[in-house]
Amino acid sequence: MDGSIESQLNTSYGTKQTKIMSDKDWIRKWEKKEIGFHEEKVHKLLAEFLETMLHNRKQITIFFPLCGKAVDMKWLADMGHNIVGVDVCEMGLKDFFKENNVTYLEEAVPAIPGAKVFKSTSGNISLYCCSIFDINDSIIGKCDGIWDRGAMVAVNPTDRERYASVILSLMDKDCRYLLDTFEYDPKLHPGPPFYIPDAELEKLLGSQCNVKCLKITDSLTDKQRAWGLDSFDEKIFLVTSKLS
Ligand SMILES: C[S@@+](CC[C@H](N)C(=O)[O-])C[C@H]1O[C@@H](n2cnc3c(N)ncnc32)[C@H](O)[C@@H]1O
Repeated sequence: MDGSIESQLNTSYGTKQTKIMSDKDWIRKWEKKEIGFHEEKVHKLLAEFLETMLHNRKQITIFFPLCGKAVDMKWLADMGHNIVGVDVCEMGLKDFFKENNVTYLEEAVPAIPGAKVFKSTSGNISLYCCSIFDINDSIIGKCDGIWDRGAMVAVNPTDRERYASVILSLMDKDCRYLLDTFEYDPKLHPGPPFYIPDAELEKLLGSQCNVKCLKITDSLTDKQRAWGLDSFDEKIFLVTSKLS
């Protein structure tokens, strides 16, 4: 460890060092406007696989782990769905409401010391400002759908099991979970976004869920070339409970 905020450790992949991000590191990124992950438009894979998640259901509860200020939340809220998001950075959550002209109220979350929830006055968007690891179903309830983009891939590899168990505990029996990951050579780039092998996904989710790859897209752009990568595939999975 070098004592810097973004310290380093060797991963189980054994090849390249992986960056460890603390909550403070993420908040600092937001403050410095280093938010290249944010997209101004609805994510194309969410649009493409929306019906796969909705499955003909109206007004469902859709969970956005590590939500940032994703415009996808407004898009789905405008369709009448109930949106629940969690992010550790207050600035990003407040920006979401400001940039989308959505009025909101701020409340404490009694079950989590120091946490806040920002609720749209329309009532169908609730964004929790706290760590995902403080969340459980007694606080936010179960969800019918999950859009996991820039979320599992942003969690430190050493925290992945904890993350998966939070997500699994929030899934209702009929929940349809869309998970977006990347495949690249981890020897060439330390992340985030972190590389998650398919076998690891199976290990994390497969005891309780079916994990099905829906599509693989070549998403290599100059941004990833600048990281030293020569291939960068985006993979979208549908995760559903084995009980459904
Ligand atoms: C790569 S960004 C993705 C944001 C969003 N999902 C999107 O698609 O634009 C990861 C987000 O996770 C948040 N974050 C990181 N660790 C977290 C944690 N343990 N709990 C809650 N939020 C976290 C960061 O503040 C950041 O907004």
